[in-house]
Amino acid sequence: MVTITSLHHDDILLRLHSLNALLIDCVEGGASVSFVLPMGEDKARVFWEGVAASVARDGRQLLVALDDQQHIIGCVILVTDLPENQPHRAEVAKLLVHSRARRGGIARALMARLEQEARAQGRWLLVLDTASGSGAEQFYRRCGWQQAGVIPDYALMPDGARCSTTLFWKHLAAGSPPGR
Ligand SMILES: CC(C)(COP(=O)(O)OP(=O)(O)OC[C@H]1O[C@@H](n2cnc3c(N)ncnc32)[C@H](O)[C@@H]1OP(=O)(O)O)[C@@H](O)C(=O)NCCC(=O)NCCS
Repeated sequence: MVTITSLHHDDILLRLHSLNALLIDCVEGGASVSFVLPMGEDKARVFWEGVAASVARDGRQLLVALDDQQHIIGCVILVTDLPENQPHRAEVAKLLVHSRARRGGIARALMARLEQEARAQGRWLLVLDTASGSGAEQFYRRCGWQQAGVIPDYALMPDGARCSTTLFWKHLAAGSPPGR
């Protein structure tokens, strides 16, 4: 049984070990999520401390998936600290599922909860980017995301090879555009 919950600043710092393990597992497994190899505890800790700060300061939301033993096996970040002329928009970052827990619907559950949280905040347009040709790209298509375009040579894979990124967007049902 998997539980999805939101972690606040202090919870994130208390669970650094588990979050580090998740991020390192994904990067070492070849996911293009901002890091290149070697990926160690130091880089991971700095990243999660930054997430904790932005959760406290900017209202970002870190959602995690917990297994029966309360271990973190997945996460996703909802980013809402955007310019004042985009009050209806949010971004999705760092959707990660531990390699031992994949293809069991955890990412789908995390994204369903993220959409629920976004709607509750009046955010009905979601945007993200992901490495072109990745399993994540297939996942987003399967979940109803629309492709906006591809930017060639956007980033590096963990092994240093260049990769393109695919931009996706999704309109959530209900909610009317602000402004005229
Ligand atoms: C992409 C990722 C988050 C998917 O997590 P997951 O929990 O395994 O996904 P789900 O089980 O919810 O998948 C739902 C559906 O999406 C599709 N899907 C998921 N992973 C896929 C893959 N690697 N290849 C093709 N389709 C995939 C399938 O249709 C799947 O349904 P099915 O298993 O019944 O066929 C996970 O593989 C991961 O963490 N990858 C590394 C990190 C990463 O690249 N994150 C994206 C950053 S933008």
